[in-house]
Amino acid sequence: MNAYSSMSKGKLEKMYRSVSAHYEICKTEGLKLNMARGKPAKMQLDMVSELLNVLSSPEDCMDDGIDVRNYGELAGIPSARRYWAEILDCKPEQTFTGGSSSLNFMFDVISRAYSHGLLHSPRPWCKEEKVKFLCPSPGYYRHFRVTEFFGAELITVPMTSEGPDMDLVEELVKDPQVKGIWCVPKYSNPDGIIYTDSVIKRFANLKPAAPDFAIMWDNAYCVHEFDGEYVPFPDIIRLCAEAGNPDMVYEFASTSKITFAGAGFSVMASSVDNIAYFTKLFSVQTISQDKVNQLRHVRYLKNKAHTLEIMKKHAALMAPKFNAVATALNEQIKPCGFAHWNQPKGGYFVSLYTMPGTAKRALELCKQAGVEMTPAGASYPYGKDPDDSNIRIAPSLPPVAELEKAMDVFCTCLKLAALEKLLAN
Ligand SMILES: Cc1ncc(COP(=O)(O)O)c(C=O)c1O
Repeated sequence: MNAYSSMSKGKLEKMYRSVSAHYEICKTEGLKLNMARGKPAKMQLDMVSELLNVLSSPEDCMDDGIDVRNYGELAGIPSARRYWAEILDCKPEQTFTGGSSSLNFMFDVISRAYSHGLLHSPRPWCKEEKVKFLCPSPGYYRHFRVTEFFGAELITVPMTSEGPDMDLVEELVKDPQVKGIWCVPKYSNPDGIIYTDSVIKRFANLKPAAPDFAIMWDNAYCVHEFDGEYVPFPDIIRLCAEAGNPDMVYEFASTSKITFAGAGFSVMASSVDNIAYFTKLFSVQTISQDKVNQLRHVRYLKNKAHTLEIMKKHAALMAPKFNAVATALNEQIKPCGFAHWNQPKGGYFVSLYTMPGTAKRALELCKQAGVEMTPAGASYPYGKDPDDSNIRIAPSLPPVAELEKAMDVFCTCLKLAALEKLLAN
């Protein structure tokens, strides 16, 4: 097949008729398929469900002399803090282990920044004339929504294959109204990019005008390789300290995609001073986290080596799904020449860039044929992709056979939307 760009109008019309006919057949099949959400599949959840049996008696609930069934240890039980420190390569005293959601921690940091300020804030952010927040895009829409919720102006920073465009970031942070940046440094959502060492070093060495500038370092996919060996990752907290910015970074992670999504346990890691500051603030909000769940997890996951073994088992379930996506795109879309996509080795997403101006239309067609995708534009501030091109594919949830069917419909819709545009022009 030739690339669409080299086809005559007559050939495009013929192609359009053939793709439309296939689309109409897909529509009659009454499909109900979902590639919208980065959720683990049931098989992944079943695989780790031994977790439910770990604590079965009162004696099991003692840890380092602490009875986890009772109040206390607001920053988390020592074994849980040691666990995350090993995973993130930082120190236990730099961690605060929490409840089931890391997003909740991120929301809390921004919320406290607005209500009380961060450690070096001259005033709470709500008293600032204006707050601006940098959003490397495409990025994770829930991050953007948190800062939008509090009224910050969201500023798009383009992603490169090495991470966010750091020339632009270094320029933008000279504005004292720019208070922070969202980052998913390993297997970024949705592009699956691992920030390079040089980008990470430039982050640690930033010289923002705002004294309370916050790097929101969401390391959600820190151990989530599905293709190849574990990729070690630098400790941003140490790098920031060495660069003279000890309190600039807040790192987050959780076991949402290691054990149970939304029912695991999370961590915030930062300087000891930031952890002390936030422990004081959080003590107003809660007396204790769910330490029973923390202990259950530490006993089950044990340590980093054992966690990586479990991640290998997740990888065995995930890899065939990402392969199914790659196969469909390579066979059906690559020859048409109007789209490109990333092939990550970890994380939960494939990020595809289709013909500009056709992403929304393609996903509308998908919906009509019973395939649900993340809405077009969702990965950009305010939900608006200026090129109407990026689409996030989340292959983890459906079984492979369903995924193959969904990808066939998806590829058909991409083609149809592109052909409609070419013929309209
Ligand atoms: C980048 C990123 N951060 C955070 C989360 C949510 O994490 P949690 O369940 O710990 O709130 C997700 C979920 O998809 C994610 O992709």
